[in-house]
Amino acid sequence: MGQRFLITGGAGFIGSHLTELLLERGDAVTILDDLSTGRMENLAAVRDHPNLQIIRDSVENQATVNLAMASCDAVYHLAAAVGVQLIVDQPVRTIRSIIHGTEVVLESAQRFGRPVLITSSSESTARACACRSARMMMWSSARPIPAGGAMPTQGHR
Ligand SMILES: NC(=O)c1ccc[n+]([C@@H]2O[C@H](COP(=O)([O-])OP(=O)(O)OC[C@H]3O[C@@H](n4cnc5c(N)ncnc54)[C@H](O)[C@@H]3O)[C@@H](O)[C@H]2O)c1
Repeated sequence: MGQRFLITGGAGFIGSHLTELLLERGDAVTILDDLSTGRMENLAAVRDHPNLQIIRDSVENQATVNLAMASCDAVYHLAAAVGVQLIVDQPVRTIRSIIHGTEVVLESAQRFGRPVLITSSSESTARACACRSARMMMWSSARPIPAGGAMPTQGHR
C-alpha cells in the first residue's frame, strides 16, 4: 500500500487526472471538492475505486479540512475558483474563496505537519506559454519535503 494523498479540487481538470495516476500506482486518494466547477464525470474512470474517498465540501470548511488532513500523508492543493468569466462576474467572492481556502489548507497542513503542493498560475500565462507556466509551479511545505520525496510531480518547478 502506498501513501494517502489529499487532493483539494480533485474533481477538476488537473485533480481528476492526478487522482487516476495516484490510484493506478497504488496510492490512496481523498478528494475534497465542492463541485462548484468540477464534475463527478471527471472521476468516472475511478469513481468506484476502493482506495478513493470523495468528500463534497469547501476547503473553507476548517473542520472538514482538518479531518481529511489528519488521515493523509501529503496534500495537493488544487481547489480554486477557475475561469476568467467567473472571476469577472464575482471578483470579491472568488478571490476571497481562493485566499481563504488556501489559508485554511496551509494552516491545517502546518498543524498536522503535512507537505503541500500548490499550483498557481494565471490562465493567460498558461495559454501564452506552457513552459513558463510549468516553471511557475512551486513547492510549498509546512515542513521540509524529504529528499527523494514521494510526490510524483517533484522536480517540476
Ligand atoms: N488547467 C490549467 O491549464 C492550469 C494552469 C495553471 C494553473 N492551474 C491551476 O491549477 C489548479 C486547478 O486547475 P484546474 O484546471 O484543474 O481547474 P478546475 O476548475 O478544473 O478545478 C478546480 C476544482 O476546484 C474545485 N473548487 C473550487 N473552489 C473550491 C472550494 N472552495 N472548495 C473545494 N473545491 C473547490 C472545483 O469544483 C474544481 O473541481 C488551479 O489553482 C489553477 O489555477 C491550472
